[in-house]
Amino acid sequence: RMKIAALFADQEQLDGKEVTVCGWARTIRDMKTFGFIELNDGSCFKNLQVVMSADELNNYKEIAGQNVGAALIVRGAVVLTPEAKQPLEVKASSIEVEGKSTPDYPLQKKRHSVEFLRTIQHLRPRTNLFSATFRVRSVAAYAIHEFFQSRGFVYVHTPIITGSDCEGAGEMFQVTTLDLNDVPRTEDGQVDYSKDFFGKKTSLTVSGQLNAENFAMAFGDVYTFGPTFRAENSNTQRHAAEFWMIEPEMAFTDLAGDMDVAEAMIKHIIRRVLERCPDEINFFNSFVDKGLKERLTHVMTSDFGRVSYTEAVEILKQHNDQFDFKVDWGTDLQTEHERFLTEQVFKRPVFVTDYPAEIKAFYMRMNDDGKTVAAADCLVPGIGEIIGGSQREERLEVLEERIRQLGMNPEDYWWYCDLRRYGSCKHAGFGLGFERMVMYLTGVSNIRDVELHPRTVGNAEF
Ligand code: 4AD
Ligand code: MG
Repeated sequence: RMKIAALFADQEQLDGKEVTVCGWARTIRDMKTFGFIELNDGSCFKNLQVVMSADELNNYKEIAGQNVGAALIVRGAVVLTPEAKQPLEVKASSIEVEGKSTPDYPLQKKRHSVEFLRTIQHLRPRTNLFSATFRVRSVAAYAIHEFFQSRGFVYVHTPIITGSDCEGAGEMFQVTTLDLNDVPRTEDGQVDYSKDFFGKKTSLTVSGQLNAENFAMAFGDVYTFGPTFRAENSNTQRHAAEFWMIEPEMAFTDLAGDMDVAEAMIKHIIRRVLERCPDEINFFNSFVDKGLKERLTHVMTSDFGRVSYTEAVEILKQHNDQFDFKVDWGTDLQTEHERFLTEQVFKRPVFVTDYPAEIKAFYMRMNDDGKTVAAADCLVPGIGEIIGGSQREERLEVLEERIRQLGMNPEDYWWYCDLRRYGSCKHAGFGLGFERMVMYLTGVSNIRDVELHPRTVGNAEF
């Protein structure tokens, strides 16, 4: 059996040769004595045009009467007609039905709304939109590994179940073996986690960073690429409860070095997707986001903007009349502000650095001003924050002080503090939200459409 992708790739050598292809019918047109099938096998974005005639096929009637969605095995000769609308066809010598479909197959050839497609998530990978999106997703994932591996980073796997809250935001999904109908309690009425599987309260990880730091203090440069979970009750186009994150962590690196790696990584991902997914990008550019190709090409060749939080707030304050949520020094930036900065002010990706300590996590390195931390978020047009990163606090006393200030207990983080006891060094890292990156690469505007089975509030049917 030959994949349709290979057929298109090697068409010159295959001209006139007999091939076998297997796939699903996207359309079937019966002109009585001859007919056409558009066949898709998922190996590439393109459909293969199959031509059949009643003279050649003894089961022509059976095939012409099949419903869209049927699984077919087609044998036939490759015919190249470079001048024609269909420059490559297969002229069928035999067609077998592997699996029938029915007339009520939900994906008839017409444009379906993304809202409708979310109700048939098990079938939606068969549409052009999802075919293109998941191919880009796959190519982008490979490009990320390629980027880090070629720079000598070690790919490490951090646990999914964890006993610590990396971001300190309390947005964890609890993992427990306790019976919710009969929770054991201590004498003072608290839940008795000593009876739980792990003997303590545990959750699904919100970030592999703290564990990645353990690796980085031995391997120098490492990265994780795995699922993360947030019980954030925010019903937006860019938040999901389960998403994938890429988290590099680099020893002997400061915030400027951190941003350099993030910028080079994003450019590398874009370059590879433009090279390897031309059909998909053309599709998105025509049907999803008209400016996509030009924008991505521009990003590869221009420097990202860099601005401090304090400077950014000065800019934003001048436009406060346009915002639902007014900005002032100390407030966290909302999506509307992030998008304004990157879309109206910089018109390209931009790093915002040195946020107030109060609105950032405990592990970020305190700046000399005692008010801001060495953080860098990367914002991109159309989405807002795509990367959150920072230089880490490598000074033991400063870290312990910060942990205490936030009402947390340094003893709970004894192992994290140990890194600062034994050969501590300046280090930095960041987290790229993979779904947001795929949205950026495709122009798809809702995170629910870049995951096959998105986990958002009230959404776990599939
Ligand atoms: O900014 P965040 O929370 O940073 C961290 O978790 C750090 N520990 C990363 C690090 O330094 N190693 O999350 C990082 C990125 C965000 O910029 C965003 O792209 C994505 O993860 N993200 C989400 N994506 C989808 N749905 C959500 N609910 C997300 N929350 C964060
Ligand atoms: Mg963030």
